[in-house]
Amino acid sequence: MGLLRRDVLGLGAAATLPQLPAWAQPAAPSPLRRIGFASCIHQDRPQHVMDHLAGQRFDLFLFGGDNVYCDGPYTREKLHAAYEKAATHPGYAQLRRSTPHLAVWDDNDYSPRDTGADFPLKQASKEEFLAFWQLPQDDPRRSRPGLYHAQAFGPPGQRVQVILLDTRWFRSPIERVSRLQRGLGDGGYVPDPDPAKTMLGEVQWEWLAQQLREPADLRILVSSVQLLAEGHRWESWANLPGERERLLRLIGATRANGVVLLSGDRHFAALYQRRAGAPYALTELTASGVTHSWAEPTDQPGNRVGAPFTGMNYGVLAIDWAARSVRLAAHDGQGAERLGQTLFLDQLKAST
Ligand SMILES: [Fe+2]
Repeated sequence: MGLLRRDVLGLGAAATLPQLPAWAQPAAPSPLRRIGFASCIHQDRPQHVMDHLAGQRFDLFLFGGDNVYCDGPYTREKLHAAYEKAATHPGYAQLRRSTPHLAVWDDNDYSPRDTGADFPLKQASKEEFLAFWQLPQDDPRRSRPGLYHAQAFGPPGQRVQVILLDTRWFRSPIERVSRLQRGLGDGGYVPDPDPAKTMLGEVQWEWLAQQLREPADLRILVSSVQLLAEGHRWESWANLPGERERLLRLIGATRANGVVLLSGDRHFAALYQRRAGAPYALTELTASGVTHSWAEPTDQPGNRVGAPFTGMNYGVLAIDWAARSVRLAAHDGQGAERLGQTLFLDQLKAST
C-alpha cells in the first residue's frame, strides 16, 4: 500500500502519514537540468543546510555517502537509531519526499570508520540502508551484493546517466603506516600497488564496463571517496593507485563520453582535474560537509584546481542543453556558489 489517506482510514488529524516509498518519488523531469549532491550529513548536528536544500528545486538529488553517522563502536541498533533520527528532521524528510533522489553509502553509514569488504556486519548495514532509502522491492540492489547502481534520465541527445559506485562492500584492506613511521600528513594511508587488491571487486568492475558502454550524453560517476585527489593520506582511490588507473583506462576502452566525477567524504569542497591516463581531461567535484566542515584542510594541491571552500556546502550540476555544457559547482549553506567550473560536453570525449 502506498499513500494512505487519513480520511479513507478514518484516522484522526494526529495520525502520522506513512512515509512516501521511493517508488512513489515524484518523477524526474525530462531532460534533467539541475542536479543536487550532498554528503556527510550528521543526524545529531544542526540541519539548517538540509532545510535550505529542502526549499531548493532540483530535478534530481544525489546522496553521496555518510548520509547518517554511526559514531563509536558499531552496532546495528546504533545505525538504526541514526537513520530514525535523520528521518525526523523536517528538511531531510522534505527533500526525500519532494525530490527524485538516489543514494549510496560511505564509511559512516556502513561500518566502523574506513572499513571495506572485511566488515562482518555489512549485510546488517545494507538492510538498514534499504529500509531508510525505501528501495523498491524489485530493485536489483536487494538481490546482489553491495549497493552499486546506475540509472539513466532523459531522451537521446539529452540523456544523463548516473552511476553510483560502491567503494565499501568489495574494497580490500588499505595500507596504513604507523604515526611514527609515516611523516606523511594526516590520515596515514599509503598507496598500495598490490594488483590483488581491489576497490570495486570484479563483479562491480564488469557491471561498470557494461554501464559505460550504454549511450549517454553526460555521465555522473559518483564515488564516495575522492578519485583524483593526490595531496593527502586519507581514504581515496590514491590508496589503490592500480585501481584508479584501471578506471581511467576503462573510460577510454569503453569510449565513454561525458564523464564527470562527484565525491564526498572530505568535509570541504574542491575541484580536481586530471588528463594523464584518461581519454580526455576528467573533472571531479568534491562536495562534502552538509552539517560539519573542516576549516583548515592540510591537503597539498595534487590535481586540485584552485582553492578549496571550507565551509558547509553542497554540489550543484547545472546543465545547459542548448549550450551542451554542464557547470559543476559547490554552494554554501545559503546557496551562494563558492567554486565551480563549466565543462562542454563536446570536450568530454576522446579526440581520436
Ligand atoms: Fe563524513
